[in-house]
Amino acid sequence: MNRPVRIALTKGRLEKDTVDLLEKIGFDCTAVREKGRRLILPVPDGNLEAVLAKANDVITYVEHGVCDMGVVGKDTIMEMKGKFFELVDLGFGRCKFALATKKGNDFYSGYGIKTIATKYPNVARSFFEKKGMDTEIIKIEGSVELAPLLGLADGIVDIVETGTTLRENGLEVIENVADISARLIVNTVSLKMRQAEIERLVKLIESNIN
Ligand code: PRP
Repeated sequence: MNRPVRIALTKGRLEKDTVDLLEKIGFDCTAVREKGRRLILPVPDGNLEAVLAKANDVITYVEHGVCDMGVVGKDTIMEMKGKFFELVDLGFGRCKFALATKKGNDFYSGYGIKTIATKYPNVARSFFEKKGMDTEIIKIEGSVELAPLLGLADGIVDIVETGTTLRENGLEVIENVADISARLIVNTVSLKMRQAEIERLVKLIESNIN
């Protein structure tokens, strides 16, 4: 028998929603729920197993074909790009990319080059390129909101979910960049080689998303 169809799940927030979805389909996710420190877990639906990984790594594993499918946020897809099929918008993990600045800051005034701090330099670069605007992009690893507060950047391009982090730090959204939600991605070769199994799974997923 072939190795199980491997689905890479993004650990953390998306993991819970993905497991809920797999259980709604009727798959037994006990092993994933009781995983302890294990990273590869069987999902006893014939021939399926879940691999738990960080978002960027989900894309890497799917792109290289060691996982056939993956669940990852559109934010990571937009930043990393890569060669795979993006088949389904799963509808959960909804948030957005936005440009934010200190409250009351007139971002678009003046002629100087604006400095943007972000965890997503490719997304930020392409957003400003489309506007024909020259910017300096500075990569920050966490709590990007600090950069304008400390005077490092004029603005940030970051994920906004509830808006609480911005609000509590005196920042505000001045422009939406893109809507984000979790997506089902599939390796291009897997889709050809294991078409029947993958299509069956995709249909089950599609008919169980809200
Ligand atoms: C994200 C993002 C914001 C925050 C927005 O960070 O970078 O800081 O969530 O959420 P809110 O609008 O609901 O306040 P995350 O919590 O993922 O942590 P990270 O900085 O480690 O990426």
